[in-house]
Amino acid sequence: MYAKIQETAEWLKGRMPSKPETAIILGTGLGHLSEEIQTECTIPYSEIPNFPVSTVEGHSGQLIFGKLGGKDIMAMQGRFHYYEGYSMKEVTFPIRVMYELGIKTLFVSNAAGGTNPGFRIGDLMIITDQINYMPENPLRGENIPTGPRFPDMSEAYDPLLIELADKIAAEKGIKVKHGVYLATQGPTYETPSEYRMFAHWGADAVGMSTVPEVIVARHSGIRCFGISIITDLGVNGKIVKVTHENVQKAANEAQPRMAAIMREMIARS
Ligand code: HPA
Repeated sequence: MYAKIQETAEWLKGRMPSKPETAIILGTGLGHLSEEIQTECTIPYSEIPNFPVSTVEGHSGQLIFGKLGGKDIMAMQGRFHYYEGYSMKEVTFPIRVMYELGIKTLFVSNAAGGTNPGFRIGDLMIITDQINYMPENPLRGENIPTGPRFPDMSEAYDPLLIELADKIAAEKGIKVKHGVYLATQGPTYETPSEYRMFAHWGADAVGMSTVPEVIVARHSGIRCFGISIITDLGVNGKIVKVTHENVQKAANEAQPRMAAIMREMIARS
C-alpha cells in the first residue's frame, strides 16, 4: 500500500508544474471554484498510476494544478465515494498521495442535508467537527508510518482556519453557519427517523463524503478546513423528497459564495 502511494507521488512529481502546499477537494456540483483556478496542468485520474477512477455523475475526475488567490494549489475535481463501491483505502488514496507531495492544508467541500432546524437550503456551513457514521475507519489495518496508530481527533478541523473563514465571510457580507458534519455510507438519503436520530447525536448536516478524507489527512498532520452547502433539509416538518438534481441545483446556486471564501482564505494563508 505505502509503496503504491509513493509510486503515484513520484509519478506526479515528474509532471507537476509547481510544489503546492494547499489542496482542494471539490464536491458535488462545486466545480465553480475550479473555473477560478489559473490552470497550469490537468491530469485525468484515469492516467494516474494506482488511482481509482471516478464514476458518479457530476464528477469529471481529474487533478488540477494551478494558481488560486495567487498561491500554487492542487485540486481534485471529483472524489471517490464509498457508496460507489470503493474501499476506504481507495477513497482516501489521493490524500495519502497529497501528503507525499508536500500538502500541508486541505480544503474540502460537499453538499449536505441540514438537520439543524436553524438551517435553510443554500446555507453555507463551516464544518467545526465531524461524526464518522460510515461502516469503517480508513485507518483500519496496518498503520502507515506518516502518523500514530491512535491519532488524536480533538481538532479535526483547524480552529485558526475556521476563525479566518468567519473573518472573511463577515468582511464580504456572506452569511455562514457553523456545524457538525456526519457521514453515512449512502447512497440512500435519510429517512425522517434517521435525520432525527442524527440531529439527536449532535449532527447539523448529513452527507456521504469528507469524513474519511479528513481522518486520513489528520493522521498525516494535514490541516483541514471544510464547508458544506446545505442542499436539502432533514428537519421535522420541512422534509421534502431529495433528488440528486435538486442537490446539484442548490449546490450550484450557493457555490460562488463558498468559492469567494475559500479563494480569499488561500490568498491570505
Ligand atoms: N443526506 C445525505 N447526503 C446528502 C444529502 C442528504 O440529505 N444532501 C446532499 N447530500
